[in-house]
Amino acid sequence: MKKISSLISLKNKNILVTGGLGKLGLAINETVAELNGNLFLLDLPGKNFDKMNNHLKKISNIKINYIKCNLSDVIERNKIIQEFKNSKIKLDVLINNAAFTGSSDLDGWNNKFDRQSINTFEKALSLNLTSAFHLSQGLHENLNKGKNGSIINISSIYGFLSPDYSLYKGTNMNVPAAYSASKGGLLQLTRWLASTCAPNVRVNSVSPGGILNNQNKNFIKRYTNKTLLNRMAKPEDFKGIIAFLSSNLSSYVTGQNFIIDGGLSIK
Ligand SMILES: NC(=O)c1ccc[n+]([C@@H]2O[C@H](COP(=O)([O-])OP(=O)(O)OC[C@H]3O[C@@H](n4cnc5c(N)ncnc54)[C@H](O)[C@@H]3O)[C@@H](O)[C@H]2O)c1
Repeated sequence: MKKISSLISLKNKNILVTGGLGKLGLAINETVAELNGNLFLLDLPGKNFDKMNNHLKKISNIKINYIKCNLSDVIERNKIIQEFKNSKIKLDVLINNAAFTGSSDLDGWNNKFDRQSINTFEKALSLNLTSAFHLSQGLHENLNKGKNGSIINISSIYGFLSPDYSLYKGTNMNVPAAYSASKGGLLQLTRWLASTCAPNVRVNSVSPGGILNNQNKNFIKRYTNKTLLNRMAKPEDFKGIIAFLSSNLSSYVTGQNFIIDGGLSIK
């Protein structure tokens, strides 16, 4: 039987992380670097890649590429997909992580129901959901090469829970309808892709609860009280699930959603 140390290794695995230069991206990237995988970090142009690169190089001397791409633009997505196809590179893991989040600065987004705009609703679906479908479809050939690919869709507890407005009282925070709808869509897309891409590619999702990030003090207190573990998440709380789903530790796991929320959603 293989040892845990060999099952968990990401050595010689190529891992593409969308939104790889964001907050959760840092925890994902550290995990991959610590397990010696190679990283393709896809994010908007102009992000601070050098800082991330220098940080990760201190952990491990892995290959790290910055793919500059606006995933909201179908032409840019097609270009990246074509480059991967032409390169014939074996892709082992695709992590669909980029998204408009609750704190994104968009018109008609973080507003009350009657001021959430149709235009922004459609933009959010395009980035949070359509781009995950498009990349999974377009990169399927590359993911198939090793006959052991893994797609990880980063959803949210708001993909299956409705917002508790009492949490947000007195803050400028909100859970836009399009955020919930796109994240719920991602959970079902995960199951659909799991059937469609089997047996060579496994497809799972991760649903994080709120990650501590200088939010309003009252919000943090109220949110903390809703969890069983009495705190908000830390980025490192996601390292375990990323290591599990990216590596051969999860080679018999597909079509599942992993809820990492300190027990909030079972109350
Ligand atoms: N932070 C939380 O509390 C929390 C909770 C639940 C789920 N999540 C999910 O985790 C994922 C990461 O969230 P985060 O907190 O790291 O957010 P973040 O804003 O720090 O990171 C998102 C990254 O996506 C990139 N991005 C945005 N638009 C893009 C585009 N059009 N093309 C390419 N890249 C683009 C951003 O530049 C950024 O680097 C998201 O899917 C989010 O919904 C986060």
